[in-house]
Formats: sequence, C-alpha cells, structure tokens
Amino acid sequence: MAESIVEMRQKRIVLGITGGIAAYKAADLVRLLIKDGIEVQVVMTEAACGFITPVTMQALSGKPVFTDMWDARIADNMAHIELSRGADAIVVVPATTDFLAKLANGLADDLLSTLCVARECPLLVAPAMNRQMWENKATQRNVAQLARDGVVLLGPASGDQACGEVGMGRMLEAQQIFEAVTAFLQPKFLTGTHVLITAGPTFEAIDPVRGITNRSSGKMGYAIARAALDAGAKVTLVTGPVSLEAPAAARVERVESAGDMFEAVKKHAKAADIFIGVAAVADYRVAKTSKQKIKKTGADLDLKLVPNPDILAWVAALPKPPFCVGFAAESQKLHEFADAKRRRKKVPLMVANLAQDAIGADDNEVTLLDDIGTHTLPRASKPEIARQLVAHIAKRYKSRKNKSR
Ligand code: CTP
Repeated sequence: MAESIVEMRQKRIVLGITGGIAAYKAADLVRLLIKDGIEVQVVMTEAACGFITPVTMQALSGKPVFTDMWDARIADNMAHIELSRGADAIVVVPATTDFLAKLANGLADDLLSTLCVARECPLLVAPAMNRQMWENKATQRNVAQLARDGVVLLGPASGDQACGEVGMGRMLEAQQIFEAVTAFLQPKFLTGTHVLITAGPTFEAIDPVRGITNRSSGKMGYAIARAALDAGAKVTLVTGPVSLEAPAAARVERVESAGDMFEAVKKHAKAADIFIGVAAVADYRVAKTSKQKIKKTGADLDLKLVPNPDILAWVAALPKPPFCVGFAAESQKLHEFADAKRRRKKVPLMVANLAQDAIGADDNEVTLLDDIGTHTLPRASKPEIARQLVAHIAKRYKSRKNKSR
C-alpha cells in the first residue's frame, strides 16, 4: 500500500475511585477498559477502600493499586507525579460531592487529589451523589467551575438512588462511562464527514415463519459504527436483524430483507462521504413469498430463488460515489477471491476476513486490499480492528479527496 497503516498506540488511563456507594460500578468499568486493550492504573482514596477493596481492583486491572502518597513501591516517592506520567487521561469514578469540591478548589490532601492537581492530561469525572447533594448550590458552583477549568463531566443521570429517593445525581452505568471514555480518547479523524454503514445479516422471508438468512452477528459492523462516531463522524447505520445495542449517537435504520436494506441505503448514499458495506447481504430471495405458512406435505418442496441487488456495487457505480469500502468473507483463497470481488464491485478498498474465523467471534484478523497491495491487521478485538480500520479509511478518504481537488 502506498500509505502505511495508521499506528495506534495502546492507551493508558489512571482510574481514580472515591468513597461512594457507586464505587462497585468502577469494577465493571475496569473490566470493560481492560477487555478493550486499555492499560488501567487504579488509584483509590481511603474512603473508597471502605466500599470496594484494592484487591478486587488489582485482580481486575492486573496492576498494583495505589492509595497512599508515600507508597514505597515508587522508587523516588513521587507517586503523585509518576502514576499519571504518560497517561492519556485521569478518570474519576465515582466522584463524590466532597471530591468535586476539592477539585474545584485545587486541594491536594491525598494521593488522588494530588495526582489531579499535578496532572498534564485531561481529567474526566463521573459524579455520584444523592439528589439534594447534587442540587446543593455549592455543588452546582463547583461543577460549573470544573467545566470552566476544562474538566469533562460524565453525567450524572436521573434515576433510583441508593438512599431510596429518585432524582438527579445517580452515576452513569459502567458501559456508558466506558463508551464516553473510549470516544474521548480517539483522535477525531472524521469530523465533518457522514459515514453510511450496513451491518448484520438480511432475512428473506419464505413464509410468515420461515426464511433464508446469512450467518452474521453484526458485531463488526456495530464496532465500526462506534469507531466512526468516536472519530467524530456523523453515522447512519442500516442494520439487519441482530441482538446488539446500537450506539446511541448513530442514526439507525432497522431493516429485514436485502430489498429493505437497498431502499434505506438509496435514501442516504448520495449524502454520504464514506460507505462501508459490512452487512452479510443474502444473495438470493424467494421469487414469491407465501402469505400463509407453507404446510408440510412430505413431498419435496421446490423454491425458486431470484438474485438480490448488489448494494455495494450500486453505491460504487453512482456518478459521484462516496468512498466505498467492502467486506469479503471467504472460506478459502482469501486474498485472491477478495481482490477479485474488489475489482468486480469497483471499490477502492476491500476488507477480507476468513468467514470461519470471524462469524460470531469477539475478535478478528483482517487483510486490507486496495489497488496497491495488501496489509494485514493482526488478530485483535473487533473494537480494536474497527478503530484501526476507521483510521486507515479516514486517511485514504482524505488523500483521495485531496487528489480530486
Ligand atoms: N454486498 C452487497 N449487496 C449484496 C451482496 C453483497 O452490498 N447483494 C456487499 C457486502 O456488504 C460486502 C461485499 O458486498 O461488503 C461482499 O459481500 P460477499 O457476500 O462476500 O460477496 P458476494 O458479492 O455476495 O460474493 P460471493 O457470495 O460470491 O462470495
């Protein structure tokens, strides 16, 4: 390939935990961050240790947990500087009323507050407190000050509280914080672009209860949608039937058949800058769907199948097509078949993977093929592959755009 793959180094965050009942959610957050390949250094206040133990956090993060300014494990006794050196962010989950007040006033009387004052990286906090404490004028003043100081506030949300009341102050769920943190950490390669993505399988009805479908979990397409959003793009996700939660910030069009998917894509393709066809579109549908359930007779049943439109090839043939990326799932001769598919569908970039390795799995290994050559992204989680892919697509899209000026 003319341009090299964009190198993505491993992200590192310091996760601060303060003493609130929502501290238990920090355990789940660490699990999600580690699974995503992020290095996590946990720092806890003394009060946090009353809610959740450092042993739990150490087991989940795979690293010693620090609670004390004078911890002898740091050779020069500079834990307050050492621990956040090179970190991409400090994330405080949960952030209590007291801790927000400390931050707003620049107090540094324990390891975590000192780390926050001495930091060079961004600070994100997830407040968690009772409704009255959140509404208190002093808290609101502190929160406004923190926002002015550039601290990123994640939540809080409204809902059931540990004290039995309902209202504002409840901490976001671990998954929501995870999504906000990973989005924050991503370079904004795609700001100002509209990315249209197809994902999942299609389902071609035979009768009201039966149909033809392809095997596809939708995990790769959804991961790409999330990575494109995190890179700053506006995303339209046209999805076949899957059991996944779509990213909240995407515009989602739910479809069933290839015909429905084609109509949805036609609606959005002309306004898209980039089109990524990840869906496993059924190549055929039955010529005539039966309105009633077909009864078993014991005799052979002949179904006439007719071809579905090729959505990717249609988009690529538009007079002013978006930058088109296809996915080729092959069971053999991966590079040869995928490259032939790329030429046939006239798309600048094809992503090839082995169907038997990729379908339903949480990780993937893909090879990118374009008119210059091939490049393999080594096996990694689907979110990680998606991020590398989006970075590469952004680079290729921009260089193509510059050339056509
Ligand atoms: N694709 C599409 N519309 C179709 C079939 C495929 O948009 N009717 C897109 C897929 O989303 C994918 C790419 O084309 O990006 C390749 O899909 P694949 O099923 O591997 O290729 P086919 O053209 O169906 O070839 P074959 O089944 O012979 O391997």
